[in-house]
Amino acid sequence: MSAGAGRTELFSAVDVIRAKRDGGELSDEQIDWVIDAYTRGAVAEEQMAALAMAVFWRGLAPRELSRWTDAMIRSGERLDLSFLSRPAVDKHSTGGVGDKITLPLAPLVAACGAAVPQLSGRGLGHTGGTLDKLESIPGWRASVSNTEFRRQLEEVGAVICAAGADLAPADRKLYALRDVTGTVDSIPLIASSIMSKKIAEGSAALVLDVKVGSGAFMPDLNSARELAETMVRLGGDAGVRTVALLTDMSTPLGRTAGNGLEVAEAVEVLAGGGPADVVELTLTLAREMLAAAGREDADPADALRDGRAMDVWRRMIRAQGGDPDAALPASKERHDVAAPATGVLTRLDALAVGVAAWRLGAGRARKEDGVSAGAGVRLLARPGDRVTAGQPLLELHADDPARFRAALAALTDGIEVGPAPPARRPLVLDRIG
Ligand code: URA
Repeated sequence: MSAGAGRTELFSAVDVIRAKRDGGELSDEQIDWVIDAYTRGAVAEEQMAALAMAVFWRGLAPRELSRWTDAMIRSGERLDLSFLSRPAVDKHSTGGVGDKITLPLAPLVAACGAAVPQLSGRGLGHTGGTLDKLESIPGWRASVSNTEFRRQLEEVGAVICAAGADLAPADRKLYALRDVTGTVDSIPLIASSIMSKKIAEGSAALVLDVKVGSGAFMPDLNSARELAETMVRLGGDAGVRTVALLTDMSTPLGRTAGNGLEVAEAVEVLAGGGPADVVELTLTLAREMLAAAGREDADPADALRDGRAMDVWRRMIRAQGGDPDAALPASKERHDVAAPATGVLTRLDALAVGVAAWRLGAGRARKEDGVSAGAGVRLLARPGDRVTAGQPLLELHADDPARFRAALAALTDGIEVGPAPPARRPLVLDRIG
């Protein structure tokens, strides 16, 4: 086939699709070509959609997946962080409800002597995006120039910002296509999508938080483990020291889901308080990141206690125009959800709370939509707590009271009260790497 500009193409997209459709292995040259040709528009969206569906069903062998990921990295720039005077270490979460861990974690790890470049995204669907959360801070901006990024990373130690258009552009296109063609939940496609961006960010070390449970991409432990093992292997293939933790996402993390609500909770953690599970996961991931960066001598619990992490947070927010002392926006409208019976709260489902927060205005249905900074859910009880019928369990926050109805519908099957406490589920379920 030939591109519009008259260029002779090395392969035919139809031949590549057929080869994968029929269960064959693609050659390195075919993979390099198809990713490059798709990025420059010589492979049509419908052809890539067919190939993504063939990969969804047939999978990719380890060699193919490694090459596919590498081709996606080579579709854009790979950041060079060799100018840094401290080791760089990155973190990625596969996304969960109430997952605000990046907010206290990045400044905490920076306060312990590593550099944390976090190129993040906005949320789509029921899991919130880190940038949406930070944008609830008055004045804070997600986009920074290359020069600002480098200066902030060296001087402050942590940058959380929007990824530039040149970071794995093949993934940007392919992820949008997968989103509308039913091909998101494929382990090789998820692993290559996440790892191409993370490897392109240039850190020598990476810690992955792979969520398991109703509020996660991977609802069961086996598929989450397979995803984690696949990503750890891809990191290793690319020379990035990679470790993955599998962590529970059957119930929301902490006591808030929603943009400004989660920032306030992250600041509580940085001030030495905050919910026990958020503190535990922040410290566990911080220790993993510091070990991966060769800074295992630093104790992140000390840096939380003595205010060093908070100092870095304040500098990090200010460096991007934000006012760390400004009041966070709050929604005017509130609605309480009451306990349906007396007993022990046995289940507060992560997906139900995530969808409720989303319907309240904290998330977006389409990429172009805006989000509400104040909307979301505050958890007044957690699984294992004793509750009395009628007692408020959740506080719903919205700018428009018309949103409560749809949020309540999402919660109908997500709350259970029983006679006995649920079995305690550890927060960290496994470690791979
Ligand atoms: N996040 C990504 O960046 N890519 C996926 O495919 C899934 C989640």
